[in-house]
Amino acid sequence: MGIHVDTTKTGLSQDSLEKKRNLAEEAMDRLFSGEEAFTGWVSLPLKQDHDQIEAIMNAAAEVWNKCDLCVVLGIGGSSLGAKAVLDALNPMPHGFPKVVFGGFNLDAASLLDLSEQVRREETCICVISKSGSTVETLIAFSVLKEVMYEKYGPAANSRIYAITDAKEGILRKETDEKGYVSFSIPENVGGRYSVLTPVGLFPLAVAGVDIKALLAGAEAMTVDPGWDREAILYAIARVCLHEEGKTIEAMESFDPSMENFGQWLKQLFGESEGKDGKGIYPTVLSFTRDLHSVGQYLQEGTPNVFETMILFETVERDLIIPESAGADLGGLTMHQINNCLTKGVIAAHAKVGIPLITITVPQKDAFHLGRLIYFFELSCGVSATMFGVNPFNQPGVERYKQEAIKEIRKLRVGK
Ligand code: PA5
Repeated sequence: MGIHVDTTKTGLSQDSLEKKRNLAEEAMDRLFSGEEAFTGWVSLPLKQDHDQIEAIMNAAAEVWNKCDLCVVLGIGGSSLGAKAVLDALNPMPHGFPKVVFGGFNLDAASLLDLSEQVRREETCICVISKSGSTVETLIAFSVLKEVMYEKYGPAANSRIYAITDAKEGILRKETDEKGYVSFSIPENVGGRYSVLTPVGLFPLAVAGVDIKALLAGAEAMTVDPGWDREAILYAIARVCLHEEGKTIEAMESFDPSMENFGQWLKQLFGESEGKDGKGIYPTVLSFTRDLHSVGQYLQEGTPNVFETMILFETVERDLIIPESAGADLGGLTMHQINNCLTKGVIAAHAKVGIPLITITVPQKDAFHLGRLIYFFELSCGVSATMFGVNPFNQPGVERYKQEAIKEIRKLRVGK
């Protein structure tokens, strides 16, 4: 049922890992102390709000009845988690609305295409923003809202679902004025740690994902004996590898549907650790595709990369390769060949000394993804604390936003 972390191919000695154990355990204790700001996510799987989960399921059922399309608008922590789980559990069950994402860039062409799709299909919009003031999300919401009013008149309001702060921000104000169905993002949970709140749960419920299983997976992690061992081991290994000059982590999977899970990881670790001149730069690779591009770099380029491979023990679907593929391949299954490729990559990379951490997961379903999400959140909270940075702020991001707003205001003055 559990997740297994293997650091034996990192080249790190047991001794060097053990030396950091106290530091890691202290960091974990701080997360659970309840005294640190923005650590509300730590207790989410343990203190599930069952009334809220029912309300989310009921609102999702309303969307199933009304819509063929649900457009989720949000950026960063407000959409990456739901996208990650949705893609990983692909294909979506039949009979549920199509869930598509927008409001995560400033591309007029894709927003125009989305507007057309909204005109054509029975649509609901789910807008997600904790601050309520994120430019990309605000713009997409304002454009699609106009289309919704043109199409449905005032009834459009009953097709808009808002997930935002309970009290603050212009989205909250508008939600209360217009009476959108809404869910609140807990005050003490930051964007990138919010996938197990309504931010992730509502869009996933709309798509037909078993959100109770997702939460049960996260909860299950905390009841295993020695449950924190794997998260602590992963954090320690990463910090040790960074000390050895491995400043880039290639987050890899041989399952292409995990690429967006990688994008969620990239944000989680990049925004949590990358500050004060510290942290590991996360990059996402999808195998076997990327073996035919940066595989060469990994094998023989600058030796500052370590690899973290997420491996599933089983696959849901497989196929037998036709005999016409040749004597080597014909009659074997895709899964068998994928396993051989995995072993081949591990062996070739070991020969040149690329440190490798493997994270093995029994299967790819809602339960195990819930577990994996909580595992990575915890481990990231621990490693960022070990680096001596605040895992829960993003001052650099705020700075670029302020500069961009200044530029936008200059345009208005010129008008
Ligand atoms: O992790 C974070 O806090 C960020 O990635 C935010 O989620 C992102 O910037 C979107 O912010 P908001 O939800 O306020 O629109």
